[in-house]
Amino acid sequence: MRKPLIAGNWKMNNTCAQAVGLIEELKKGHWGDEVEVAVCPPFTALRDVKQALGNSPIRLGAQNVYCEDAGAFTGEVSVPMLKELGVELVILGHSERRNVFGETDGLVNKKAAKVLKSGMVPILCVGETLEEREQDKTQDVVRRQIVQDLNGLTGEEIEKMVIAYEPIWAIGTGRSATAAEADRVIGYIRGILEDLTDGRLAQTIRILYGGSVKPGNAEALFEMPHIDGALVGGASLKANEFLGIIKYAAGKEIG
Ligand code: PGA
Repeated sequence: MRKPLIAGNWKMNNTCAQAVGLIEELKKGHWGDEVEVAVCPPFTALRDVKQALGNSPIRLGAQNVYCEDAGAFTGEVSVPMLKELGVELVILGHSERRNVFGETDGLVNKKAAKVLKSGMVPILCVGETLEEREQDKTQDVVRRQIVQDLNGLTGEEIEKMVIAYEPIWAIGTGRSATAAEADRVIGYIRGILEDLTDGRLAQTIRILYGGSVKPGNAEALFEMPHIDGALVGGASLKANEFLGIIKYAAGKEIG
């Protein structure tokens, strides 16, 4: 059974004070065990968010990490540093990391291996640009990213990961993929994972959709058989919107 995951990617938003305020609002929401919820604040707010979460079921995630444990890597943050703060999930290969900061599939692959060894869960993001989509290259692009980013990982390791399909043209644009479009690509990704693992694993790996998810489109997205939740950017910064999305994922268990 795959339990839906709703993860909030706060990006470079929220000072510590703002972050704690948002957590206090989110803690007023109610949902059952059927859905897993996580927030991914900026590094600077991780400790305060962890403390504000207290015994809330909301899990703590980070937005990035480097692939070395320590050393001369100015500006970077390591896996032991995140673990010490109680981080359980790490977003990897977000399109903003790839496009603004030049991260390659090779680097994302090293990071994925490192995070998996630590026991934290990578949320690996893949997705095509508008140009690639218009040239009908979506499948080629996501296949290349998945194959290269998971290179050398065992089926057992891959099974522990979460994949997020985030078409770049849908991120922060208000223009979401339709539920059917997103489901088609996510079904295709599941097929790639089937090829890479032993088939059985592809049915257990959670694959999220991300890109302008809002309460208004969440229900249709979560009705789709392959979509196991969402990676939410803009709408995760507003408690009522994030809670609205969680509500639609509660009650959906897939598999
Ligand atoms: P968005 O961002 O929900 O604001 O489109 C999603 C993401 O980048 O993870």
